[in-house]
Amino acid sequence: MNSPEMATIEQDALGEAMKAKSFKYKGISFEKRYTSPEVIDAIEHMEIRDNDVFLVTYPKSGTVWTQQILSLILNEGHRNGTEQITNIERAPAIEYNIHNVDFKSRPSPRLFSSHLPYYLMPKDLRFKTGKVVYVCRNPKDALVSYYHFFKMNPNIKCTVTWEAFLDLFIKGKVLCGSWFDHVRGWYTHKEDFNILIVKYEEMKKDLRFNVQKICKFLDITLNDKATDIVVERATFKNMKDDPLANYTFLPNDMYDKSKGVFLRKGIVGDWKNLMTVAQNEMFDKVYKEKMGDLPMKITWELNEETAS
Ligand code: A3P
Repeated sequence: MNSPEMATIEQDALGEAMKAKSFKYKGISFEKRYTSPEVIDAIEHMEIRDNDVFLVTYPKSGTVWTQQILSLILNEGHRNGTEQITNIERAPAIEYNIHNVDFKSRPSPRLFSSHLPYYLMPKDLRFKTGKVVYVCRNPKDALVSYYHFFKMNPNIKCTVTWEAFLDLFIKGKVLCGSWFDHVRGWYTHKEDFNILIVKYEEMKKDLRFNVQKICKFLDITLNDKATDIVVERATFKNMKDDPLANYTFLPNDMYDKSKGVFLRKGIVGDWKNLMTVAQNEMFDKVYKEKMGDLPMKITWELNEETAS
């Protein structure tokens, strides 16, 4: 482990490197290369259709996983393999529209993804037009996943130590801001939206049950066979081998595939492999201070050996 002095120097270097590649807008850091304040502002006025579905997550909380689940639920062509379309095209991010998808001309039901806080989402969603599926993952695993993912970012040219990244994550000085603010914001404003909150850990415990829960929320009836297909194609193992779902389709100048993969481990409790006892205690303290007043149950670990 580095000395505290060393960690500080690296934190500063990392903080500076991130600042140079990002911009802060309305409290949130965005990656400069892929969006702008004008794009974020325009989202507020986006026209929403009744059957639009927005998948919202804090980064590394199961976005890609739930894109696959929702795409399979919403698109028969995706289920039966007649439409070979990548998940990022099926569920484009509204704030990072990297493929320049014309949202207006998309056929219904439209599916979008987003890492935005509740207050930057399209205003119409507040009038309960359209639906939001919010996926929440325990912050220690989201942090560890984010750390590994961050190392794949070819735009950040500096060494990232675990200690430095942990510090930035806790302070919310990472892209998309603070986990604590994101989850608290969505959780405390859930009554304003037509929203289903799904937990990553619950999906790990019982994927089929959660697929059915999502279907019910979306008013979609799938027969047993179709449900089986969704569950089967959304397992970690199958998604890892699925070129339309595993994100290997992204170019190397976006994510350096020699440094890691999107579908890394897919387990609950991986934080135990990286956090020291002292770091864990410090994290628990921060969690209690920031989230302790919310009646939110977080699952920190599951008894599992491997990802299903
Ligand atoms: P790990 O890095 O812990 O493995 P996001 O899509 O929001 O970026 O989140 C990525 C995390 O979700 C990664 O976590 C990835 O492995 C995990 N994930 C993706 N698909 C999954 C699946 N089918 N089952 C379980 N976890 C999955």
